Amino acid sequence: MNQTKKYFTLIFIICILVSDDIPAQQTMQLTVQPAKPIAPIQSTLWGIFFEDINFAADGGLYAELVKNRSFEFPMPMTGWKEIKEKDSRNKILIVNNAAEATANLRYASISLHGGSYGISNEGFRGMGIYANAPYNFSVVAKNETGAVKVKAQLVNASGKIIGETVLENFNSDWKKYTAVISTTDTAQKGKLNLVFEGTGTVDIDMVSLFPQNTFKNRPNGLREDLAQKLADLKPGFIRFPGGCIVEGRDLTNRYQWKTTVGAVAERKLIMNRWNVEFKNKLTPDYFQSFGLGFYEYFQLADDLGAEPLPILNCGMACQYNSGEVVALDALQPYIQDALDLVEFANGAVTTAWGKLRSDMGHPLPFNLKFLGVGNEQWESQYFERYKIFEKAILSKYPDIKIVSGSGPSSDGAYFDMAWKELKQLQPSLIDEHYYKPPKWFLDNASRYDNYDRNGIKIFAGEYAAHPKENNNAEGRNNWESAIAEAAFMTGLERNAAVVHMASYAPLLAHVEAWQWRPDLIWFDNLRSVSTPNYYVQKLFSVNKGTHVIPILNNEQLVVGKDSLYATAAIDKNTSEVILKLVNISGIAMTVNLNLEKTTLQKQVAKMFVLKSADKEAFNTFDKPGMVIPVEKQLDVKNNKMDLVLDGSSLTVIRIAVT
Ligand code: AHR
Repeated sequence: MNQTKKYFTLIFIICILVSDDIPAQQTMQLTVQPAKPIAPIQSTLWGIFFEDINFAADGGLYAELVKNRSFEFPMPMTGWKEIKEKDSRNKILIVNNAAEATANLRYASISLHGGSYGISNEGFRGMGIYANAPYNFSVVAKNETGAVKVKAQLVNASGKIIGETVLENFNSDWKKYTAVISTTDTAQKGKLNLVFEGTGTVDIDMVSLFPQNTFKNRPNGLREDLAQKLADLKPGFIRFPGGCIVEGRDLTNRYQWKTTVGAVAERKLIMNRWNVEFKNKLTPDYFQSFGLGFYEYFQLADDLGAEPLPILNCGMACQYNSGEVVALDALQPYIQDALDLVEFANGAVTTAWGKLRSDMGHPLPFNLKFLGVGNEQWESQYFERYKIFEKAILSKYPDIKIVSGSGPSSDGAYFDMAWKELKQLQPSLIDEHYYKPPKWFLDNASRYDNYDRNGIKIFAGEYAAHPKENNNAEGRNNWESAIAEAAFMTGLERNAAVVHMASYAPLLAHVEAWQWRPDLIWFDNLRSVSTPNYYVQKLFSVNKGTHVIPILNNEQLVVGKDSLYATAAIDKNTSEVILKLVNISGIAMTVNLNLEKTTLQKQVAKMFVLKSADKEAFNTFDKPGMVIPVEKQLDVKNNKMDLVLDGSSLTVIRIAVT
């Protein structure tokens, strides 16, 4: 054998030896049966879970840029710093007005003896300010003595003024003063300075700064980019306000919807429970101003075409914290809150709470259909209280669908107890939660295959795959977690007969102020980034269809065998077959697809592929496109076709049929 021949023989032998590692294409025969719908898919199947955690409301979705705008934080100067000339007697005094006010107790009194004096607000980890944009500044003020004027200045991190307005001639009665500030530069970490000049004393309260550009340009509105990301999900419902925040660490710290509606200045501030929840993530400046309260929530649901799903406190504080419960004979105010919320949402404008809704700007009802009683509660104390709520709600509002909890665990003794108890009662839906490693999601994609088709429906109310820790804030939202959720979600959709609602949790996180991760959307003061998990949610939600149909391999439903998870639907409104295929293996998979007894309308189909070869891949502010869906055109000649599913991918295909 000459040298060259020897060399090629050796290469050939090596190839044979390592051939196990060379990706081999698998072929899968799939049959889809559009003529055999299994169950309708609820319009509510894919929704969103909102909780004020990770600065999701104040400092996040709620577009207010001033932190502690009415000096109500326990330390009234939190977020504020004095700008004081050396040896000046000019000063600020925090005055408590408890005799006149109920919620907004404090104001600041500024006294000047000449020269100038200022206070500077740092915002929520700085203020994100855009160049050439109008900002609505307002302050409630009263002149006490003399004549003082105030310059409201937007400054960037180096102190350069990038926008300014001047207010003067304050009235001797409290009055709101407004001005529009136009900006010259962008600032990632801007500040608002109030610089006072003159002599005398002026009192100020409710210092506010909003971008004019809020979602749908609503006053007291929402941050446009974040709300738009929520709108793009086309959610079927919005769960609000949580989560553990519903419960509170103790009962005084619970979420009370009535303190979140009416005049913004009169909404009573409380500490956000996530302020102190995790010792390694203490967030001492985290409070709930309730600027984004129940009216704004209903308005958002209305704007997004989503069903509102409020979750209410059931007379129990968080069982991981105080576990405090209300005595059964003292439960009535809690029940009344639930009944009054239905009236606030749906009542005629002639009712007390319907009138408030109307006065706030929405005479038409919000059409509330669902109400959740309790969040993650367990043991007999929950069921004793739940029963009383259920009876009271259904006797006054028999059409309201009640959502009950099943506790924080996806299985185990408390979970089993919950199901046993609730089967004797009348909830329309049971809320199940699972924060688990990615493998759990792959192993549990068939979780609902054997749930009773005629039983209580499921609300998968909080779930997320939690991969191992990562040093980057957004790093736990990696492809490994997202593809596991996609695989699991095929099981939710396949079981649409049982699963009527599902929402990933939590929704939003400020990159510099988070307590919990992974989360669906990350943001800083100016930018937001969609995670791979967000794109999975979006692909399922915007490609929902109206009915589940069978997708079979060897006459068996495709549920994860040989690395393939799948679900199929038809959309009777658009006449399309919609396939969702998740190939969890790292190698491409060839699929022979037969759309049984189907005639195609067009020779092309739409295909969306979300994939990554790297299970650790995630999207960042600087590289938001590491894992994003790519839209392709798929040539289809007749109802039998070959498809190649990329390794480690979610593929969604929409095929127009007659
Ligand atoms: O989503 C974060 C928290 O997880 C929720 O507040 C709570 O319900 C669950 O334990």
